[in-house]
Formats: sequence, C-alpha cells, structure tokens
Amino acid sequence: MSSMPSLSNRSEEAVVQDVWGRSLKALRVSVTDRCNLRCQYCMPEEEYVWLPRETLLTFEEIVFLTDLFTRQGVDKVRITGGEPLLRKNVPALVAMLRQNPRILDIAITTNGVLLAEQVQDLFDAGLHRVTVSLDTLKPERFKALTRRDTLAKVFEGIESVGKAGFTGLKLDTVAMKGYNDDELVPLIEYGRQVNAEVRFIEYMDVGGANEWSPEKVLSRKDILTSLSQHYGVIEPVVEESTAPAQRFRLPDGTTFGIISSTTVPFCSTCDRSRLTADGMWYLCLYAKSGVDLRKHLRSGRSQEEIQSIIQSVWQARKDRGAEERKELERQSGRGRYIDIDRLRQDPHLEMHARGG
Ligand code: GTP
Ligand code: 5AD
Ligand code: SF4
Repeated sequence: MSSMPSLSNRSEEAVVQDVWGRSLKALRVSVTDRCNLRCQYCMPEEEYVWLPRETLLTFEEIVFLTDLFTRQGVDKVRITGGEPLLRKNVPALVAMLRQNPRILDIAITTNGVLLAEQVQDLFDAGLHRVTVSLDTLKPERFKALTRRDTLAKVFEGIESVGKAGFTGLKLDTVAMKGYNDDELVPLIEYGRQVNAEVRFIEYMDVGGANEWSPEKVLSRKDILTSLSQHYGVIEPVVEESTAPAQRFRLPDGTTFGIISSTTVPFCSTCDRSRLTADGMWYLCLYAKSGVDLRKHLRSGRSQEEIQSIIQSVWQARKDRGAEERKELERQSGRGRYIDIDRLRQDPHLEMHARGG
C-alpha cells in the first residue's frame, strides 16, 4: 500500500492494561468473513451480507496493524475467519507475521475442510499451532449441523497436521445437549488417536446463534459428570494461565479442556481482542461496536496516531460480555442477544465476522 505509513523502530512499549488491570496480549485476526460450512450455532443461514471485497485489509495492512498491537503488548496472534483457509495464500501472511520478533505464537483456527492441501505450506511458513473445529464424528450429524457433506475432508485435514510436522494440535468441540452430548468419550478417544487435545466449548449466545437456548447448553459440570462416569476420577491440571480453556486430566494422563464461557465466564482474565477482515477492532466477543482501524489506516494517519488510538481504547476497556450475559440470565432471563434484523444490517455482529 503506497499510502501506508512507514514503521519507525521505536523501543518496546510496556504492556497496556485496561480499567480492570487486564493486559492486551492476544490478537485474533480474521482474514475473511466467508465460510464453506453453515454450522447452526455460528452461521445458520445460507446467504449473508458479506463484507465488500475492497474493504478487506491487504496482508501488508494486517501486518502493519498487527505490528502496532505488538508494540502494546500482544505476543500471540491467531488467524481466524469465517474459514481462514478460504483466503488465498494464508501461508504468505504467516511468513510475513513471522518477521515480527515480538510475536511468540501464531496459530490458526480452521474447520479443517481445506487443511490437508495447505498444511505443509503453513508449517513451512512458520505457523506454530493448529486448532480444528470438530463437533461430531458422525457424517450424518455433521451434514445436519453444517449443511455440507465434508466430514471426510475434515478427518483428512486433522490427520495431516502431525504428518506436516506440527505438534500441539487442538480439536474444538461446541458441546450441545441433544446434538453431540453422547459423543464426548468418542471425541476424546479420537483426539488420543490423532495426538490432539480435545476442548469442549459451552454453546454461547453470540452473534447469529439464534437457535441458542439455555436448555441446549451442555455445561462444564455436565461434561465433567458425564466423562467421569466413563473414565473415573478427573483432576484439574494446575497451571497459571489466562487461556479460556481450563484443562483436566483423566486417570491415564490424557488431558482435555473445557471452555466454560456460558456458565463460568472468564472475563476477569480476558487478554484478547479481535480484528475483523475489514479492519474493525472489537474488544469483547460480545461487543456491539468497534473501532474502524481501516479508516484510520487508509486516511493516512501516522503510526503514532493509530498506536495511541489502540492504547487509549484498551486503557478504557471495561467490558465483560459473558459475565454480563450470565448476570442477565439470573435477573430477567437471557433473550436473543442481537435481533435478526440488526444482524442483517451489520455483519460485524456475527461470530463468523469476528472469528470467535
Ligand atoms: P489457545 O491459544 O490455543 O488457548 O487458543 P484459544 O482457546 O484462545 O482459541 P480458539 O480459537 O481455539 O478458541 C476456542 C473457542 O473459545 C472460541 O471459538 C470461542 O468459542 C471461545 N473463545 C475464544 N476466545 C474467547 C473469549 O475471549 N471470550 C469468550 N467468552 N470465549 C472465547
Ligand atoms: N458457541 C460457542 N462457540 C462458538 N463458535 C462459533 N459459534 C459459537 C457458539 N455459538 C466457535 C467454535 C467453533 C469456532 C469456529 O467458533 O469454537 O469451533
Ligand atoms: Fe473477554 Fe468478552 Fe469473552 Fe469475557 S466475553 S472473556 S470479556 S471476550
């Protein structure tokens, strides 16, 4: 981009903290809002208002903005979507991000469908870790949930990760009552086979998850009860971490995680924020408004100006979206989070636009 300000080599700034003392450490970068699946909990409709192509950040713009975030303390970057591997040449983006020595960890969250064909290039480009979403092992269920018949491709993708040289594979399962609550054990067993840690995620009422209801949430408590009936005593793994997943150990040493966003939110340690594919910066997963960094970038603001916007916005951060939703449930019930008409008008409010 010719109009992009050049980066100066200022010395390291301290990690910026928000109103509650939370540090800015992790940036989730969405590279596309499009997806090749239609998971009912995320993108239930066939057609959406997609972000206009010319508004998508170029890789150079993503790298430039990410660099500014790393000057405020970010050292973990996760590439998300939609489905990130639908964007052309993600390995090139990874290689560009790897040039920044402040980034210690670059991961990707993918649905796995296109993974096998790109996994080696991703590894060779320097990607550190891969997380694949996997909600069921049953082809018919997969088809009912995603409206696509591509579970075999997902398995192929998952099984290609280790072969390409990666370690640290994770499988993310959104646990839903009446859908996959009978697959917790088979999923852990499958994870064992492919050398992956399985993480069960409580179903959240974010964005377009309009079919959400409290009755469908399989809680952390339910998950632990069900797994201990099969495996015996389950111990929590004791570790210092700000990650959303709490990890547990089965009697034979196998570990797994639970992300209890709905019943035991972890907002007090939240260190993350999200950049959409068109350069909107959202702090909380539940945030209804964000900061238009693309506008600042393309209107020729200087590096210092954009960096100071990032700093002051984070310093003023107060949101605790999941905790507030939970509190509301206790007080008056948890109605639909965002009205369907508003979702149609502003695609940024969808989970698939802000990458989870
Ligand atoms: P690791 O670095 O591997 O720990 O990654 P991660 O767990 O941050 O990333 P991943 O994309 O695997 O996140 C898994 C899921 O956790 C997401 O898809 C969301 O459902 C949920 N999640 C991630 N970040 C947040 C968050 O900030 N708040 C809440 N409430 N849920 C989140
Ligand atoms: N609840 C929980 N997790 C969700 N994801 C998307 N929608 C939801 C939701 N309603 C997360 C899952 C999925 C990833 C793409 O986004 O982790 O694997
Ligand atoms: Fe952070 Fe918002 Fe998620 Fe809470 S709900 S952990 S504040 S992103």
